[in-house]
Amino acid sequence: MASKPKILVTKLLFSAARAVLDKTGEIDYWAGPEAIPRAELLKRVADKDALVCLLNDKIDAELLAAGPQLRIVATVSVGYDNIDVPACTARKVIATNTPGVLDDTTADLAWALMLAIARRLVEGDAWVRSGNWRGFSMDHLLGADVYGKTLGIIGFGRIGRCVAKRGLGFGMRVLYSGSKRAPVDVEKELNAEFVEQDRLFNESDFVSLHVPLNPQTRHLISKENLEKMKRTAFLINTSRGPVVDEEALAEALENKIIAGAALDVFEHEPKINPKLTARRDAILAPHIGSATVETRTRMMVLAAQNVAAFFDGRTPPNALNKDALGLK
Ligand code: DGY
Repeated sequence: MASKPKILVTKLLFSAARAVLDKTGEIDYWAGPEAIPRAELLKRVADKDALVCLLNDKIDAELLAAGPQLRIVATVSVGYDNIDVPACTARKVIATNTPGVLDDTTADLAWALMLAIARRLVEGDAWVRSGNWRGFSMDHLLGADVYGKTLGIIGFGRIGRCVAKRGLGFGMRVLYSGSKRAPVDVEKELNAEFVEQDRLFNESDFVSLHVPLNPQTRHLISKENLEKMKRTAFLINTSRGPVVDEEALAEALENKIIAGAALDVFEHEPKINPKLTARRDAILAPHIGSATVETRTRMMVLAAQNVAAFFDGRTPPNALNKDALGLK
């Protein structure tokens, strides 16, 4: 490419990532506080060679047609359900994500949610601030113990395993289910047992979700599966909102089918099901699983490095369609 590549970035990145991109091409940043509007995205992508996007930017056939020069699309997220990867492949566009740099941070948040819902921390905070708390009492805000309980992890990839690792410190029994069994040494190290999903639902005190969103996992937490859970169990979701059928969850909470839910992600973000906002047995966080300064910096830098590698003539380290495009 004779002239400098033109790169559209849908968020003003931190300086460490901007430094990588500045060396790579000519950058057009969307600097608005809100996500870039779809019409603006379609307009700005028209003359771009690369796009660095966020998980709320939908990268589909329409977008790819609007950016006929695009060669690479890099999402600043590990989940890439926002990208139609086959559509990218069909247009010979490389798609990349940011795996491996947010696992512990996301696991920390899953644990924060788990502890907060079990110990009713958010309710307690609201009570203290309300000015209505009248001092210690033996039976105020009684929660559930976390240590020594059974933790069920659905999806035992990098993040699920980091969640399991923290369970060791809390003396928990860890069950996991997923599309494939982990190597025996991993199971041993994490003291984790591979079980059928139904058994996980039946026996877990905490069910934590760590699956990608795809047609198999959409509404995995259905009315039917919620009914398999213990009445004293809690659901934790830091994966993707549509993995949970929120109507079924709200109904399960209402009917005391499970004890509570702590969610960082929602079915129709940023819209929240009003049946959930009204509940004290639900904690609702604004998709902050990876939201630490260190991790968000790493994610942005990694996305920028993927783009830089491509224009440097190398295969981007996190190319999702590497094999489909026949890249080495
Ligand atoms: C991801 O990376 O997929 C998270 O949901 C956002 O950090």
